[in-house]
Amino acid sequence: MSQPSIPTVDLADLRSNDPSRIASASAAIREAFGTYGLVYVMNHGVDPNGVSRVYDEFRTLSQQPVAEKQKLARPDLWFQRGWTPPNTEIAVAAGGQPDFKECYFMAPYESDPVLEAQYPELYPPNIWPEGMTAFREEYTKMGRALHEAGLALLRGAAHALGLAPNTFTDICEGGAHVTRILHYLALSPEQVNTGILWGEEHTDFNLLTLLPGGRFVDPTGNVAPKPDDKSGLFLRTRGTPENPAGVQVRGRPPEGCIVAQIGQQLEMLTGGVFVATPHVITAPGVPGWTRDSSAHFMHASANSVLFPLEKFQTPAARSAYRPPVLAGTYAIKTLVDIGLAPKAALDQLGYRHYDRLEAQRGA
Ligand SMILES: [Fe+2]
Repeated sequence: MSQPSIPTVDLADLRSNDPSRIASASAAIREAFGTYGLVYVMNHGVDPNGVSRVYDEFRTLSQQPVAEKQKLARPDLWFQRGWTPPNTEIAVAAGGQPDFKECYFMAPYESDPVLEAQYPELYPPNIWPEGMTAFREEYTKMGRALHEAGLALLRGAAHALGLAPNTFTDICEGGAHVTRILHYLALSPEQVNTGILWGEEHTDFNLLTLLPGGRFVDPTGNVAPKPDDKSGLFLRTRGTPENPAGVQVRGRPPEGCIVAQIGQQLEMLTGGVFVATPHVITAPGVPGWTRDSSAHFMHASANSVLFPLEKFQTPAARSAYRPPVLAGTYAIKTLVDIGLAPKAALDQLGYRHYDRLEAQRGA
């Protein structure tokens, strides 16, 4: 199977005032998000050296004793800030194997206090390890640069669909945006080639995800090219009548590009015109190798309604994405599904609280 040609969009085109450049960038976005659910992005404004420094800092943190890292783990915040231990998160569609990784979550912008009061676990203050100033500064800088690139893409996406340019950026304003760093763990000689994956196949549940690119680290701790052809990020293309399962292709951005991929929220809003990208992160077939990676997750604001926008409300779309749901409620449900929030989070939703009568009867 030949490698499909995933389009590249130039953010300089989108930011220009030249209608023909904007039109060609929009056409690239339309094809990329409609067919593959992702696009390669050039002139994105994300400093690759800054990304490397974030990875170096997180590597230092991940080498600390577990007891130290546990102080930064916040299951009470559903791990939406601070350190996520290995074997915590699971992919919904892939049979429940926990991912082979440890992570960190941080919000690059301050939360709206009203939203924080309504959704305390989605909008909490950041948590930082003591004494790691560079980690905090570089990480925040990277998150903001990715977010800005994402906003430009969302404006381009609206243009590509014939919507008002601020349609998606307005929905995104005040979202529970988080930037994550991931450290994929080394496999032992007994574990390699046994089917263990670094990240099981899934679609992201947010609006748009920006991936600045990862790096492999060899068993001696040095950054190195990928150890074999089986490890890394693979994507599944949209199914067709001839090939309903789609095709798995390696994510291979051109030099200097970052990747942007569609999440479930943008698929819902567009009634499936844009498709959320199924992706998997496979582990190498050799022991001792690790991988550093990161992702910025842009979300619809927690009180926005997820349902196809009027333009996309065909009978099929209305049926496929019913019922409408608030982005915040949807996030809570999904965080339970993937193992980051406890099942009890659903019982504690204000409109459920089945224990109220119970408490009254027992008073
Ligand atoms: Fe993902």
